[in-house]
Amino acid sequence: MYKEPISVDLLFETSWEVCNKIGGIYTVLSTKAKTLQNLYKDKTIFIGPDVWTKENPSPYFVESRVLLKEWKAQANLPEGVSIRVGRWNIPGKPIVVLVKFDGMYSVKDEFYGRMWQLYGVDSLHAYGDYDEGCAFAHASGLVIESYCDYIGIRDKKVIAHFDEWTTGMGLLYVKDRLPSVGTIFTTHATCIGRSICGNGKPLYDYLRGYNGDQMAMELNMQSKHSLEKAAANAADCFTTVSDITAMECEQLLERRPLVTPNGFEQNFVPSKGKFAPARDAARSNLLNVASSLTGCKFSDDTFIVATSGRCEYRNKGIDLYLDALARLRDLNVKRQVIAFVMVPAWAKEPRKDLESALALRRKQPLADPVITHILNNPTEDPINCRIHEIGFANTKTDRIKVIYVPSYLNGDDGIFNSTYYDLLIGMDATVFPSYYEPWGYTPLESIAFGVPTITTTLSGFGQWILTSEDNTFSESGVNVIARGDFNYDEVADRIARSLEYLVGLDSSDMAIIRSRAMNTASLAAWSYFIKYYVEAFAIALEAAQTRTSGR
Ligand code: GLC
Repeated sequence: MYKEPISVDLLFETSWEVCNKIGGIYTVLSTKAKTLQNLYKDKTIFIGPDVWTKENPSPYFVESRVLLKEWKAQANLPEGVSIRVGRWNIPGKPIVVLVKFDGMYSVKDEFYGRMWQLYGVDSLHAYGDYDEGCAFAHASGLVIESYCDYIGIRDKKVIAHFDEWTTGMGLLYVKDRLPSVGTIFTTHATCIGRSICGNGKPLYDYLRGYNGDQMAMELNMQSKHSLEKAAANAADCFTTVSDITAMECEQLLERRPLVTPNGFEQNFVPSKGKFAPARDAARSNLLNVASSLTGCKFSDDTFIVATSGRCEYRNKGIDLYLDALARLRDLNVKRQVIAFVMVPAWAKEPRKDLESALALRRKQPLADPVITHILNNPTEDPINCRIHEIGFANTKTDRIKVIYVPSYLNGDDGIFNSTYYDLLIGMDATVFPSYYEPWGYTPLESIAFGVPTITTTLSGFGQWILTSEDNTFSESGVNVIARGDFNYDEVADRIARSLEYLVGLDSSDMAIIRSRAMNTASLAAWSYFIKYYVEAFAIALEAAQTRTSGR
């Protein structure tokens, strides 16, 4: 139940992941859109990067010749910045402006210099994707300014919301040029926190001892960090997705954010009549690939488990997942288990031998039957190496088979040719034992599809589960295992035991836990969580109003 919606005349939300499915931020925006649309109708405008070509169009963008036509016709944008207007093909179908920003690279020194003067943003140490993010963000700022000039925003309640450091330059531009616009900056992780963890350093026990600026120098991340910190501190309202990341922001970015937890949109889950056929189709697809790869037959009774997510070996707990599976081999497991690792890595192409085995319906073990795609760097890929080190070989007599799917699952991977959600629905369990996880959509998506999940107290989502009274595994469908800096082995054991427990459930107990998982997911609907954003909108508008009335 959200608070009385406050009135808003115009709401921009800018992100690199608008119409651009890369990771968790895409899920935040694409699931939240419908609820925003219910509240504010077409007053919401999403702004995303136009990184698309004729040959490679965004699968989610539907261009319109009429939407915002008058503005578009006269929008006075600099050379090398252009826009396309349309709708994002997701529930709620919000208006989207895609921005081409190539022209910004040649003027970057100008705006980098200005942001240094105004906000102390250090772009000198930049490398990698910094320029790309900033070019897009700056162009987005120009687009917002152009639209505001066109409609006239005097006495209007306008909000410009920016996600992640990549769009920080846009926020700073709007703050500088359009003081009557309320600005919001949401970070979905801190650059430094993620990097501390990714480098194998302990984050939590020593959090209070870290200095963000000093760590930025040590980790060679001065530019991203200084931009993120400047945007967080300049925003009228600064938010993040969980309490655990709020503490990290307070320490490393030196401002306490408002917490706006991530919700989900049930529309992505097939409705009653369509659910069972979708689950059957997913299972037969998964089992079919497993049997073409290993040459083994799998009955319907096979237990299918998976982990998935961004390719961050330690942060996402992929190390723990594999070690837990190794321990599961020594426990009392009476059914066949297939454990998938669905993590996009540096894959070249689908395996030809697997493609032809699938086409010919041939069931003979292939060489190296633990992977579905060819990797560019098999000897350096940590997941591939660990699978071999542990010695998963997927022979007939192995109870636990492990299959690594190092490809994006967008429906065109060449092996499953199915999307991630279309496969997720077929699982019996998922495991996401993250070390660094500001929110963690993967476990939430899992329970939304009725698949019980195992996660840790180091994820924002896990912490959220623990705030409810019915938080045991059997009551909630989520097992939140206490993870700290130094209890890796204990967590691996507990994951293995939880899987043993699930594998041992009979079908009626399994049905109960599956339905409880779904119930839990329904409590994380955006219809409940949007109230936190509404609060952020109110804070931003009030700050803007105070600023302009004080002039
Ligand atoms: C980032 C975080 C992840 C979160 C997502 C959406 O990708 O790493 O934990 O779920 O953003 O907020």
